[in-house]
Amino acid sequence: MSLFSDALVDALAQASTVAVLTGAGASAESGIATFRDPDGLWEQFSPQELANVEAFLDNPTLVQGWYRYRQEAIEEAEPNAGHRALARLEALVPEFACITQNVDNLHQDAGTERVIELHGNIIRSYCIECGASHQLDAEVADADEPVRCDECGGLIRPDVVWFGERLPRDAIEAAQDWARAADVFLAVGTSAVVFPAADLPVIALDHGAYVADVNPDTSAVSGKAHEHVQAPAGEALPRLVEAVAERMQARSAS
Ligand code: APR
Repeated sequence: MSLFSDALVDALAQASTVAVLTGAGASAESGIATFRDPDGLWEQFSPQELANVEAFLDNPTLVQGWYRYRQEAIEEAEPNAGHRALARLEALVPEFACITQNVDNLHQDAGTERVIELHGNIIRSYCIECGASHQLDAEVADADEPVRCDECGGLIRPDVVWFGERLPRDAIEAAQDWARAADVFLAVGTSAVVFPAADLPVIALDHGAYVADVNPDTSAVSGKAHEHVQAPAGEALPRLVEAVAERMQARSAS
């Protein structure tokens, strides 16, 4: 019993444009907690207390410490077989974009070149007053004073999109262009409940893409997609991309 259909392999092997939307599930097999799974980050912490501007201004030391804690988890993480399979797929197809909601840099670490970061990137931080880039260093995790800009004294925040904040305009516009242009659109490891990212698979569907959801559970897009590959990304994607490579090989040999 295959994890995916021949139609999906064919669609990818013939596609000129492929767009992939990834969520926290794509990094789960790298040991990084998702948000909404049981024991996910929002089970242990409250996004209201940690992932918004008011919480940050109210308690910058707590929020800086939490992001430093997440950065440490990410620094120890390695890209998994799913990240690597997407980097291989990028090299196989003419036009490819990895649109990610993740802030862990693991797609870049796996070698994917075109990564559209919808929610920023946790390895970057900046001063909220002058914009100067900074690092939230290791010692901040248990500091009792917030880290401040050594140029202007402003508070340092992680370069991630918080609840209530707008996504970087260029990123969401590029993502929507890719969703419209895609011949095949893969949603990988996302519950697809946070907008505007969650709109992207629907935009792709409306513009004629073959849409597949790669997720061991059902997500908000599983039922709308042409196909639900009900398996972990690290298991399904390497096999899918290998099948696509073989199909391309066979087509070029014939
Ligand atoms: N492979 C593929 N999918 C997986 C795996 C795996 N190994 N493990 C879990 N999943 C799926 C879960 O079934 C779930 O549908 O990944 C999804 C993770 O969903 P969320 O935790 O909601 O993460 P995400 O969709 O990325 O959340 C979107 O919400 O809190 C904000 O900013 C945060 O970017 C995040 C956004």
